[in-house]
Order: sequence, then structure tokens, then C-alpha cells
Amino acid sequence: MKLVMLGAPGTGKGTQGVRISKDLNIPNISTGDILRKAVSEETKLGIEAKQYMDQGKLVPDELIIGIVDERIREKDCENGFILDGFPRTVPQAQALDEILKATNDNIDFVLELVVGREQLVKRLTSRRVCESCGKVYNVISNPPPADSKCEACGGNIIQRSDDSEETVVNRLKIYEEKTKPLKEYYTAQDKLKEFDGNGTVEDVERSIREFLEHK
Ligand code: AP5
Repeated sequence: MKLVMLGAPGTGKGTQGVRISKDLNIPNISTGDILRKAVSEETKLGIEAKQYMDQGKLVPDELIIGIVDERIREKDCENGFILDGFPRTVPQAQALDEILKATNDNIDFVLELVVGREQLVKRLTSRRVCESCGKVYNVISNPPPADSKCEACGGNIIQRSDDSEETVVNRLKIYEEKTKPLKEYYTAQDKLKEFDGNGTVEDVERSIREFLEHK
């Protein structure tokens, strides 16, 4: 199965993508994680991407499309994948369609998570992540261990540099301008399925699972 997670920053795309990928035994591909790894390794891509990410802006389409094209050709994607954070613009969605069309393939469903703005700002400014394995915590809903060491790998738990309130507000604005038009794009393809992302992590996961089980 080939799925796209769609939704504003903080709606829970990463949280749900990881859970669903375990259920379906397919990789969850987070473009944000790929870019953050490149930034921490100070690769050419990372150095270029950092200037956009720090301001909450999108990195240019031409940078990200090539990365995804390469990644979904890897062997672990043979039975499908979940894309978390891609596509984020109409040109990215068109490029993805073209890439898949080359092998007579296409996206099965686009799972959109919807959460109110006030809740999003709260979730993002209280998010913490492991800088080694990327495991996501939240000081309100899923607190990290008291010693700030990741329970999965022992790495340091930190706040993402783009989770400051100022950058979060900018990311939400950019989502409205650049990413929201994808709702229309995928509705026209009859692939969009909307989920209320306001419930608990388990509630949201259950509703996604129920939908996928009946497909
Ligand atoms: P990216 O890492 O993709 O960030 P994002 O889309 O802004 O999404 P987030 O990771 O912030 O949120 P999420 O929806 O995954 O929420 P999460 O599950 O963590 O991208 C970062 C940057 O990279 C971009 O700004 C851009 O610069 C660049 N980039 C990436 N892809 C790109 C692309 N395709 N094109 C161009 N540029 C690109 O949850 C958030 C918090 O809420 C967590 O603390 C979690 O524990 C908590 N939480 C989750 N679900 C619940 C729940 N149900 N109840 C309570 N708390 C919850």
C-alpha cells in the first residue's frame, strides 16, 4: 500500500505514520527526518536546507523531489510506503504522480489529519524529540524521561529548533498557502480521506486502522 500523510505541522503525521507503518510492515518516510539528518551531518543538502528550515520555510521543490524519488526506489519500498511530509506543494504532488506513473503505479490513499490551530501551537511548542533516533515526545501528553535520555536509544532529548512559537506560526501560515491546495488536488483524484486528529493518539490510530482494514 502507498500512503501519504497530509496535515498541518503538529497534526500527528509522524506519530501516526510510524504506528501505521509497523502495522503494515512498510517504511514510514519522513522528509523532515531526512532533512534534519542531512543538517546534523552538515552535508551539502543539509547546509542548503537549514536556511529554509530554520525560518519555517519549505525547501525548494527541486531539492526534495530528487530525494524522495531515490528513496522510494529502495528495496524496502517494494511492498509500499508511507510518505510523511511529502508532497507539500502541488508541483511536488505532480512530480510524485509522474514518478509512480513510470512504473504504472499510484498512491492509494491520502490520509489527512485535522486539528485546530490553538491545539497545534500547543503540541508543537511542547514537543521534544530524540536527537539520535527521532523518537517523538511531548511534555504535556507524552513526557520524556526525567533524565532527558531517550527510552528507545539513550540519545539526548531536545526541542526542535523550528518548534519555537515564532517559527511555528510561520510554518502554519506556509501550510495554508502552499500545502492546503493539495486537499483539492487529491479530492479530485478521489484519494483524500479526512480524520479528526484531536482525539488521543490511540483514538486517531484506531480510526485510521479501521479505514485501512476495510480497503
Ligand atoms: P517536518 O518534520 O515534516 O515538519 P511538519 O510537517 O511541520 O510536521 P511536524 O513534524 O512538525 O508535525 P507532525 O504532524 O509530524 O506531528 P507529530 O507527530 O510530531 O518538516 C520540517 C521542515 O522540513 C519543514 O518546515 C520544511 O522546511 C522541511 N521540509 C520537510 N518536508 C518538506 C517538503 N516535502 N518540501 C519542502 N520542505 C520540506 O506530533 C506533534 C506533537 O504532538 C508531538 O509532541 C506528539 O507527541 C504530539 N501528538 C501527536 N498526536 C497527538 C495526539 N493525538 N494527542 C496529543 N498529542 C499528540
